[in-house]
Amino acid sequence: MCSCVLTGVGVAGPDEDGPRPGGGPLHQQRSYGPGAQLPGGSYHRFRSTSSLQGFSEMARERSKTVTSFYNQSAIDVSAEKASVRLTLATLLYSGKSPDGHHILSSAKYLHKELPVRIAHRIKGFRSLPFIIGCNPTILQVHELYIRAYHMLSDFPPIKDQDEEARFCKLVQQLLDDHKDVVTMLAQGFRECRRHAQDETILRSFLDTTLCSRLGIRMLATHHLALHEDNPDFVGMICRRLSPKKIIEKWVDFARRLCEHQYGNSPRVRINGHVAARFPFIPLPLDYILPELLKNAMRATMESHLDTPYNVPDVIVTIANNDIDFVIRISDRGGGIPHNIIDKVMDYHYSTAEESAQDPRMSNLFNNITNSGNQSSPMHGFGFGLPTSRAYAEYLGGSLSVQSMQGIGTDVYLRLRHIDGKGESFRV
Ligand SMILES: Nc1ncnc2c1ncn2[C@@H]1O[C@H](COP(=O)(O)OP(=O)(O)OP(=O)(O)O)[C@@H](O)[C@H]1O
Ligand SMILES: *[C@@H]1O[C@H](CO)[C@@H](O)[C@H](O)[C@H]1NC(C)=O
Ligand SMILES: *[C@@H]1O[C@H](CO)[C@@H](O)[C@H](O)[C@H]1NC(C)=O
Ligand SMILES: *[C@@H]1O[C@H](CO)[C@@H](O)[C@H](O)[C@H]1NC(C)=O
Ligand SMILES: [Mg+2]
Repeated sequence: MCSCVLTGVGVAGPDEDGPRPGGGPLHQQRSYGPGAQLPGGSYHRFRSTSSLQGFSEMARERSKTVTSFYNQSAIDVSAEKASVRLTLATLLYSGKSPDGHHILSSAKYLHKELPVRIAHRIKGFRSLPFIIGCNPTILQVHELYIRAYHMLSDFPPIKDQDEEARFCKLVQQLLDDHKDVVTMLAQGFRECRRHAQDETILRSFLDTTLCSRLGIRMLATHHLALHEDNPDFVGMICRRLSPKKIIEKWVDFARRLCEHQYGNSPRVRINGHVAARFPFIPLPLDYILPELLKNAMRATMESHLDTPYNVPDVIVTIANNDIDFVIRISDRGGGIPHNIIDKVMDYHYSTAEESAQDPRMSNLFNNITNSGNQSSPMHGFGFGLPTSRAYAEYLGGSLSVQSMQGIGTDVYLRLRHIDGKGESFRV
């Protein structure tokens, strides 16, 4: 499978120790986004070969309180600089040099670029309305960014392979430290969003922060993956990604989750350009596809609670062309009612609580999964759709929802090709 090489650097496929149906913690804590699916165990390839010394240094660094190294003027200077976004075509065709020179220049770029991007985000946290910026969970994320800023900007210039290897360890460590950021933001804003006078501030903060995070994680993952030797990949870019394969991977994952929760799951048929292959990055698809498939399966099951063993299929259609590719996910889950269709793209909008109150649902929970009144992994904070749309737009694409009330929902995910006729997006 195309994306497997990346599992070592953070994209856990459903066959890794990622979120699993039946895993207890899934019920208590919902994880989102690139990095959310990172199992701790998948870093071993980086960890096992490294000296322990680096880690104890980093552990010491992490245990310091932020105020002990906090330097606002340094952050202000970086926040004034413009971020340099690269096209993927640049990343794809910059080529490998046998002496590893490309890895060194990639590390230098990251070392310069990451503090600038992080400083922009810190500025974003500082301009949140006071009452929101003071929420403990939001503050915790703010602090993670400050810490990351100083760890990166204190890192000495990278001149040789040894320094580059140490830099990789730091980058890996930061990816790990930040893996729950989306969940933390979802939680923090849920606690304090009622204090916000202007909802649009929160939406634009979340859109910007989440997309910037996706960009940073893509660059970091790309750099780490340059060390891997797989002819199908250049860093994080798969030279011949099969949309069908990656859809199948997430169908298996979503069906297992669904079976665990509802006792059965809809089958999924994939049609259209099933043989298509082209260069693309699995990472954003690894976030968006499971979210869309979970939504489709949940709607299908909850609209057929009386006949859970006889539910309509979900149909996924792939359309590929010179400029972009489209993935349509069609379910027969009854559609999204008129009165909520304008809200489903809002952060924190979810009907999870209502469906948990349906007596047929609680029976299903209790009898089949013994999970009692715990919230389910099929839905959570109401972040699935808005985050997926923000990611799609960040990559020059779009996500749109068409509801046929009474029948079902079609979701269209459209993404631009890296090397297509149209303009390529930047990371
Ligand atoms: N395919 C669909 N059919 C019917 N309703 C849908 C569908 N997709 C989304 N919805 C509705 O939109 C709401 C928001 O979806 P979204 O994915 O953003 O949040 P969620 O699924 O409730 O939680 P999360 O995705 O964060 O775990 C859902 O609660 C559900 O009511
Ligand atoms: C804070 O950062 C500024 C700008 O980079 C630098 O000149 C100054 O020496 C730093 N102060 C401390 C205490 O490190
Ligand atoms: C769940 O169990 C209760 C009794 O324990 C039973 O009355 C109910 O019908 C069961 N529900 C389902 C969906 O099997
Ligand atoms: C289940 O509900 C009870 C009361 O409604 C609550 O006290 C308990 O914490 C809940 N259990 C879980 C695991 O959420
Ligand atoms: Mg969802």
